[in-house]
Amino acid sequence: MIALGCDHGGYALKQEVIGYLKKNGIEYKDYGCYDEKACDYPIYGKAVANAVASGECDKGIIICGTGIGISIAANKVKGIRAALCHDTFSAEATRLHNDANVLAMGARVVGPGLALKIVDTFLNTEFSNEERHVRRISQIEE
Ligand code: RB5
Repeated sequence: MIALGCDHGGYALKQEVIGYLKKNGIEYKDYGCYDEKACDYPIYGKAVANAVASGECDKGIIICGTGIGISIAANKVKGIRAALCHDTFSAEATRLHNDANVLAMGARVVGPGLALKIVDTFLNTEFSNEERHVRRISQIEE
């Protein structure tokens, strides 16, 4: 189960992500926002982070204009490793090395074509489980 969240700046790209998830038969819960009316990204970043941290959802995808504000908000929640990715190399690396459980993107930074490749890479890359990466993740203060 994938948790989705965005602010007004990320709404259109979130609709593209929903299309990708539906096409691939992946279940999701949409924590808002639900239109392009101006709203506050921390509300949606935290809602997705709480859904993932509580185990209600396996991973999250959050989108604002830059991806920065919403990722900062999500990373305040204990247990959340939200990675801001605008390329597929980073999306793969953050799963392999950081076991990132939330993907953040900026809709004003990437187009929908690249964004969906990033989502696909993020969702289809498993954590490496290598000792050095497990150790480093455990050193991140919560
Ligand atoms: C909203 O205008 C914009 O500030 C927001 O989408 C995001 O980029 C914040 O980091």
